[in-house]
Amino acid sequence: MRFDNQTALITGASSGIGDAFARDFARRGADLIIVARRKDRLEALAEEIRSHHDVTVTVIAADLSTPNAAAALAETIGVKDIDILVNNAGFGNIGLVADEDPAPLSEEITLNVLALTQLTNIFLPPMVSRNRGTIINVASTAAFQPIPNMAIYAATKAYVLSFTEALWGELQGTRVKALALCPGGTATEFFDVAGGRVAGGALAPIGDVITSTFRALGKKKTPPSVVVGRLNATMTNIQRFVPRKTIVRATARIFTGGN
Ligand SMILES: NC(=O)c1ccc[n+]([C@@H]2O[C@H](COP(=O)([O-])OP(=O)(O)OC[C@H]3O[C@@H](n4cnc5c(N)ncnc54)[C@H](OP(=O)(O)O)[C@@H]3O)[C@@H](O)[C@H]2O)c1
Repeated sequence: MRFDNQTALITGASSGIGDAFARDFARRGADLIIVARRKDRLEALAEEIRSHHDVTVTVIAADLSTPNAAAALAETIGVKDIDILVNNAGFGNIGLVADEDPAPLSEEITLNVLALTQLTNIFLPPMVSRNRGTIINVASTAAFQPIPNMAIYAATKAYVLSFTEALWGELQGTRVKALALCPGGTATEFFDVAGGRVAGGALAPIGDVITSTFRALGKKKTPPSVVVGRLNATMTNIQRFVPRKTIVRATARIFTGGN
């Protein structure tokens, strides 16, 4: 798939999955606007991409965990003709709800939910007018079940999945694509930020996430969501037939070591 003469806005591009998306969209011909807080990391990535590909890369340092951040970002960009929006910036804190500090709790919900929703709301209308565009919202396999000890994170990702699937429904009959991307555990800085790992299992390489995304986007009919990895896809499907209470008991055991 080529994206020549198109512009991709990618949030959370200073590491992990966002960094990989930036490199891949540039390889496929897209100009980039890359956003995160760590400007030095974005500048280094931009420099590297420019040296390999004939695309423009614009760096914007922004903290998207404040309520007006999305509107401010749109104003900074100045134009709304974004062809591809990758709402990727996100994080999850490990901890019991009772132990959560109010500030990081708000930041997690604002970044994972509010900023993603507002950016979609801002950049979608021109896509609909042009009858062309792609929105990739990064959810997680955490979206498919409640996760004690990461309750807020799993709930935010359930929102992302539901919101994006609804959007997919609204966009039927247009050429604008909406895709909820659901990776399982992936080798990025995510678990360093989260404060460790609460469940075992090997972490998948970032390449799997990118491959799954473009496979889904390349289909004649893009699905509303894609789960990365065959085992993850099977597990999320099986869960639909298991009582919710049984699932939560199991995730409580796995993620809290509880009873
Ligand atoms: N890794 C996994 O196992 C996994 C699994 C499923 C889903 N995901 C999801 O994948 C997405 C990307 O995460 P990742 O795994 O690539 O982790 P990562 O390496 O920690 O990357 C997170 C990115 O989000 C940015 N970010 C964090 N807080 C931000 C803020 N307040 N404002 C703007 N940008 C912010 C970070 O940049 P700065 O720190 O420079 O701001 C970084 O670029 C997240 O939505 C995550 O929930 C990850």
